[in-house]
Amino acid sequence: MKKKAAIILSSPRKGSNSSALALAIGAGVEEAGGAAEVVDLSGLDIKPCLACEACQRNGGKCTQIDGMHAVYPKVAEADILVLSSPVYWFNMSGQLKTFLDRCFAVAMNPDNPFSRKTIAAALSFGDVDMFASGGVNAVRCFQDICHYTGAVWGGCVYGSAMERDTLSKSKELLAKAKEMGVKLLG
Ligand SMILES: Cc1cc2nc3c(=O)[nH]c(=O)nc-3n(C[C@H](O)[C@H](O)[C@H](O)COP(=O)(O)O)c2cc1C
Repeated sequence: MKKKAAIILSSPRKGSNSSALALAIGAGVEEAGGAAEVVDLSGLDIKPCLACEACQRNGGKCTQIDGMHAVYPKVAEADILVLSSPVYWFNMSGQLKTFLDRCFAVAMNPDNPFSRKTIAAALSFGDVDMFASGGVNAVRCFQDICHYTGAVWGGCVYGSAMERDTLSKSKELLAKAKEMGVKLLG
């Protein structure tokens, strides 16, 4: 059976740089024979986790019915999760954080589907430097999620861009992202 990747886009803007990198990873996954499904969080009504702890008692089902409802099966089935985000205030976007908070329910499933996943990331930031931008904080968070859930860390592609549609023009970065997608399948 084809391996599946869920490409999670969290930038709210058109011409998103982080999305361009994530989509290139998806192209690499497909080139290597896998399937890549894009989940664009913008426009989805995904509410914050209520910390009701229902998912901890009911085998990992979130009781909130909103935009996340249709996303849960895609997250559960994916062998590879590609998390993409602009850096906002020295960390991942609020959109991606809200999504990940809601994914806590998936990890609460006794079967813990996260333990069979590889998680990779695509980030863009305005600063010229990964450390100064705060991108490292997002990466650290993703790595901690892997450590906690048993997922494998697949690495991060990142680039510096303040304006829209910048990284989509960087052949070098897109090639790097695509290559990562190919490797994730291996
Ligand atoms: C609310 C907000 C906060 C930001 N905070 C940071 C930051 O902490 N560090 C940084 O390097 N860039 C920051 N930026 C710049 C974005 O990370 C940058 O423009 C990025 O490439 C946007 O990604 P996108 O094109 O995928 O939306 C911020 C931008 C916005 C709108």
